[in-house]
Amino acid sequence: MTATTTQESADLFAKAHASLASGVSASMRINPYTGRPLYASRGEGAHIYGLDGTRYIDFNMSNGATMLGHDHPAVKQALLQGVAMGVICAAETPFHERLAARMVEIIPAAERVRFASVGSEATLVALRIARAATGRTRFLKFDGHFHGLTEPWLFKRADPLTDDPTVVPSSGGVPAAMAADVTIVPWNDVAAFERAIAAHGDELAAVVCEPIHYNAGCIPPASGFLDLLRERTREHGIVLIFDEVLSGFRTALGGVQAQYGVTPDLTTHAKALANGLPLSSVSGRADLMELLAPAGAVVHSGTYSGHLLSVLAALATLDELSQPGVYDRINATGDAFYRDLQAVFDRAGVPARVQGMGARFGIYFGRTEPVTTWSDAWDHDHEMNQRFVIGCLERGVSFHGYARQGAPGHAGFSLAHSPEDFAETLTVVETVAKTL
Ligand SMILES: Cc1ncc(COP(=O)(O)O)c(C=O)c1O
Repeated sequence: MTATTTQESADLFAKAHASLASGVSASMRINPYTGRPLYASRGEGAHIYGLDGTRYIDFNMSNGATMLGHDHPAVKQALLQGVAMGVICAAETPFHERLAARMVEIIPAAERVRFASVGSEATLVALRIARAATGRTRFLKFDGHFHGLTEPWLFKRADPLTDDPTVVPSSGGVPAAMAADVTIVPWNDVAAFERAIAAHGDELAAVVCEPIHYNAGCIPPASGFLDLLRERTREHGIVLIFDEVLSGFRTALGGVQAQYGVTPDLTTHAKALANGLPLSSVSGRADLMELLAPAGAVVHSGTYSGHLLSVLAALATLDELSQPGVYDRINATGDAFYRDLQAVFDRAGVPARVQGMGARFGIYFGRTEPVTTWSDAWDHDHEMNQRFVIGCLERGVSFHGYARQGAPGHAGFSLAHSPEDFAETLTVVETVAKTL
């Protein structure tokens, strides 16, 4: 048995199949490289602990949700406040107004905010608002951009490595007929985007993107690409949606929209917003947001929407992220770590490209040139990635894998990762790189 396959976790995974579908609560919890989940007993700061007490330096950080680190004292205090209030649920409190007002201050697009529970819900509602506002149904998204697992997003191009625009479902149970409403083009491909706008511009309700494509590792927008999306959507009366569920609070307090100075009409947030508590938001232009019920005709409500514990956790999180110098520190730490990681691979002669912005990054094995599109990312060397992930896990550094096919997925650090954590990680990566 190794650190990745202790007897206890192997036994638990086998037992779990008798009660949990496929043995897990969420399909992406299975690390495709080890074939099982990382069973955790607790988390603290930058570390997550296995059932046997093994400590791992965590570079998944709850799929990007725990930006402050696990078990952050201010978040814990906020949760205790919610417990003292009786865990009241499905009730508005002054804290909801306070959090929304804070988001209006810091997120450029946010004139009004609606809270929900998870990112998938927020992106679904944003599209519903766009469809109601425009009276159109078709929308445009980009290859491999992930917006959650509700029906509109479960489509892909039949062959993303060619120009073929044919769109097909990416999941069982999704009506193929819904593909008629979906246009998908490659990220950063100006010509393909212009062609799609020429063909469908006046039929599109929304253009939706991850403004930094972190779900494919880290693919920033090419120079001027976000501006182009802004211009064309404005010209054609299309609602521009930035899905900042993963990119929000990652590179700048106001997100990628603040970093690049491009303001969408609607935007979605989750993950880092509440440091690990389930909370998401749709926000944007007041005239669009006021289409939501009960003032408007677009339904959205939920028993757990804006759960008190999550709202309190988010207030505490935003306080921490608003401290002076936080983003200078995140960006400087990230830049140094990504440069050092790249140097380790280069010294070991391993073909790998590290791309990161702010607190999240991707490693593309088998690639040495810049990765600018999803098809570049798609081509990365999964076998080498698997040896890397397992080698690191066996030495106490945890990188998650998201799929054995397609882009490599994303990794990231938190504000709790210390210089010692980064130094230890680089030593481990150096050792593993020599075995690749
Ligand atoms: C960009 C983006 N949008 C939406 C989602 C869906 O969020 P959730 O998992 O909270 O439903 C994710 C989750 O990874 C995401 O990265």
